[in-house]
Amino acid sequence: MNNGKQMEHEYFQITGGTPLEGSVHAPGAKNAITKLLVASLLSDKKCVFYNVPNIQEVAVTVELCEELGSEIVWDPEERILEIQTKELKTSYIPQRFSGANRIPILMIGALLGRANEAIIVPTAGGCNIGPRPIDYHIESLKTLGASIEYRKMRKEGAYFAEAPHGLKGTLIPLPFPSVGATENTILAATRAKGTTIIKNAAIEPEIIDLILFLQKLGVIIFVDVDRTIRIEGAKEFHEVQHTVITDRAQAASLGMAAIATKGRVLVEGAQHQHMITFLNALRKLGGGFEVSEEGITFFYEGPLKGGLHIETGVHPGFLTDWQQPFVVLMTQADGISILHETIYENRFGYATTLGEMGADIELFTHCLGGKACRFAEKNFTHSCIVKGPTPLIGKEIVVPDLRAGFAYVLAALIAEGESKITGLHYLDRGYENLSGKLASLGANIERVSTAAALV
Ligand code: EPZ
Repeated sequence: MNNGKQMEHEYFQITGGTPLEGSVHAPGAKNAITKLLVASLLSDKKCVFYNVPNIQEVAVTVELCEELGSEIVWDPEERILEIQTKELKTSYIPQRFSGANRIPILMIGALLGRANEAIIVPTAGGCNIGPRPIDYHIESLKTLGASIEYRKMRKEGAYFAEAPHGLKGTLIPLPFPSVGATENTILAATRAKGTTIIKNAAIEPEIIDLILFLQKLGVIIFVDVDRTIRIEGAKEFHEVQHTVITDRAQAASLGMAAIATKGRVLVEGAQHQHMITFLNALRKLGGGFEVSEEGITFFYEGPLKGGLHIETGVHPGFLTDWQQPFVVLMTQADGISILHETIYENRFGYATTLGEMGADIELFTHCLGGKACRFAEKNFTHSCIVKGPTPLIGKEIVVPDLRAGFAYVLAALIAEGESKITGLHYLDRGYENLSGKLASLGANIERVSTAAALV
């Protein structure tokens, strides 16, 4: 695994215009495995995970768990990871993990019922796509009996959390079906006394995967039809073997690349039931797909048609992580389309660069096309109108965040001429061997290290 330093001197060199053909493996879900590893710290038993993606986010989470006392054996090639935390060495998470990603904050939920001293967690990080608050996490954990306070510590500050009298199951009504807050609450409830009922919970496939893992671990847990999750605190835990669900963001990204380049690609492992709203939108746009035992084959079947109105939403709605590459597809569709982003305040940062490549994307602070969302009247540019088709021209690009990064790669794959994309550490966080996979499908893409280039 490259370290961050080395990756800063690398870039993708892409020449657009080649249709992608062939088959590619969609790896395990980044947003499932990272939480599953955190959840394994609830118990002292051995947990074995299969279909583990070989990505930076897993490497960072592995390092974090080892810091806390986990014994881990990870074979990235075999995609198998064994983890066992017989006892916690510490409940202090070093500052170097602050800002890395959203995982440290979930350690509060996982460790509250197990640690004998305060859990100290640096400020939460993640892609710069909005303020990324954690007020719902904190509120829920306090309602379960934790005391959590934020203290200035060196430059950043950290959360100090403890439950001196233990955690007690109770009713937790979430103000919004937040993925992270739902996960944190489930983790804490697992070691609380009695039953916890979470109302208005997130029910993303990654959350269900966590629930399946916890049930195997020994937790009595149930997901009702009305976004209600019930958890009975557990004391005894079992060893677990668990296969991580496929990464639906990566599967969709690879499928969109097939269609945008006018090719045909089998995305092995893509799970139909996790991609329903995406596939409906793709069909409306004129993209083709066929579901099979191996996965989903995506193919170009004629000029893409505009006239769509897409609204991102909590599951089972259109996943906000699909939005960025989907907008690139919409720039190639004949007509006018609207996309209303209702999950993050500021997730169209990439539109400027696409505009410089030739796309016609206009941003608005209104809730365009559908019902008013949480950001109505708040002056966030969270809607866009896309007019197409517009030819794109390659250019030098710096990646600002993980999913925008893929949108740029996709734009470069269909652009005329060459593009140079830097900021690959964002892509390495969530995409497994992206240039290798795209090259294996015929893309004209190379990962260049400037050190090598200087030789
Ligand atoms: C998870 O983020 C994913 N990240 C995101 O994927 C994904 O886009 C998101 O869920 C939605 O599906 C991981 O799983 C690591 P949220 P998370 O809590 O947990 C509000 C990627 O590229 N909110 O559902 O942070 C706030 O408006 C990433 O893989 C609060 O107000 O998502 C936020 O924008 C990007 N207070 C919205 O909910 C809170 O305490 C969604 O947040 C929590 C959330």
